[in-house]
Amino acid sequence: MPVTVIVGAQWGDEGKGKVIDMLAERADAVVRFSGGDNAGHTVINSQGTFKLHLIPSGVFYPDCTCVIGNGVVVNPDIFVSERDELNSRGVNTDNVYISDRSHLVMPYHILLDGLEEAARGKKSLGTTLRGIGPAFADKVARMGIRAGDLMDRGILRTRLEYVLEYKNQILTKLYGKPAIDIDELYEICCGYAEQLKSNIRETSSLLNDMVDEGKSVILEGAQGALLDTDFGTYPYATSSSPLSAGGCLGAGIGPTRIDNVLGVFKAYCSRVGAGPFPTELLDATGNRIRDLAHEYGTTTGRPRRIGWFDGVGARFSARINGMTGMAITRLDILDSFDEIKVCTAYRLNGDLIQDFPAEPAVLNQCQPVYETLPGWRQSTTGITRLEDLPKQAREFVARLEELAGCTACYVCIGPVREQTIEVRPML
Ligand code: GDP
Ligand code: IMO
Ligand code: MG
Repeated sequence: MPVTVIVGAQWGDEGKGKVIDMLAERADAVVRFSGGDNAGHTVINSQGTFKLHLIPSGVFYPDCTCVIGNGVVVNPDIFVSERDELNSRGVNTDNVYISDRSHLVMPYHILLDGLEEAARGKKSLGTTLRGIGPAFADKVARMGIRAGDLMDRGILRTRLEYVLEYKNQILTKLYGKPAIDIDELYEICCGYAEQLKSNIRETSSLLNDMVDEGKSVILEGAQGALLDTDFGTYPYATSSSPLSAGGCLGAGIGPTRIDNVLGVFKAYCSRVGAGPFPTELLDATGNRIRDLAHEYGTTTGRPRRIGWFDGVGARFSARINGMTGMAITRLDILDSFDEIKVCTAYRLNGDLIQDFPAEPAVLNQCQPVYETLPGWRQSTTGITRLEDLPKQAREFVARLEELAGCTACYVCIGPVREQTIEVRPML
């Protein structure tokens, strides 16, 4: 039984939640491995509509073990409210675990995210203001508080005293804000400890044991490849790795144990926050797609920026992820279009380029080269077999496969779990 990493292939919000909820029926465990509650994964199934920020999208199957891996930064308040909401709606969360090695998003991280964004002024990154960047920065700076620290009051108090002394210097001297009181913060953290103690445990051994036993594990990506700290449009990026390799690190499963990498692509592109977006549509077509698809952020409610499918970004994403297959979502959104464009290359200073540039200023100068494909102008909702899709839709899917250099395994034609065409099932 396989280990499958499912990753966002563009700038996030590709429909990972939907695809993972559908595939988790065949999985014994689903593991979030990166990001934090900056993620917003929408799941629509017979139990209702859910927007998950931290809890893995496998939670709707009572026998599926759900792990928030060491690579995730966890805001305990968000976790508890998500867990309580799921419970109140009849979803069992007894099998949800948080790695003791995962770092916590503390109240000062959220404060600092806001202060840093304000200080950037016109150059703000458009973060989700969830404290994610500051929490990952502290992890790497060895100034983090880990979930496991909550389990020993002595260790917790000592860590908090050490970290807060430094954080208070930043808050008071750099930003002119009041200092955080150590006793108050310690009390808050003791409250977290009470609320999370049944969820926190070692998780890497748990997962590797499952793999040893031949169980099927899905590693659930957050964000998307083009937001990766190394390969994304840095500095307009997030602060952890949404790539398949990030799945190994963020779950504690070695690369030799990964069998498949499924990249989730929208049939067009969207982006929230600032940063380059070569195929962005700042016109009526962009507005039409946004309205048809209700493209507003799951976490922040911000309108998403919309653009045509970017073949250059897609190929780059497929390669750096080592994708073995792709899922194409939201094909149905294009049902009413007469013509659909796909970007096949960029034009830069008169040259055609096929590689995704590292520098945002260069990307901003790249002009997309488009190919226009005929639309199918009929509803695809309810179709369950590839051969039943209109010919133009099949040709569109084939062109996306060609551009990404990757085979389509799933094509989604609606937000509901069942609205999926299984072309070449991976699980
Ligand atoms: P994620 O962050 O990658 O999980 O994606 P989001 O949940 O933030 O955004 C994807 C949106 O697309 C959600 O509202 C989903 O319900 C919706 N969605 C996913 N697949 C499809 C599809 O094939 N068709 C339509 N119409 N909506 C879809
Ligand atoms: P899912 O998992 C879309 C974007 C933010 C911002 C940048 C940095 O739902 O696909 P951060 O708060 O991470 O420091 O913000 O990254 N971003 C996302 N965009 N979907 C997400 O997650 C995102 N997570 C972060 O909008 O541009
Ligand atoms: Mg999302």
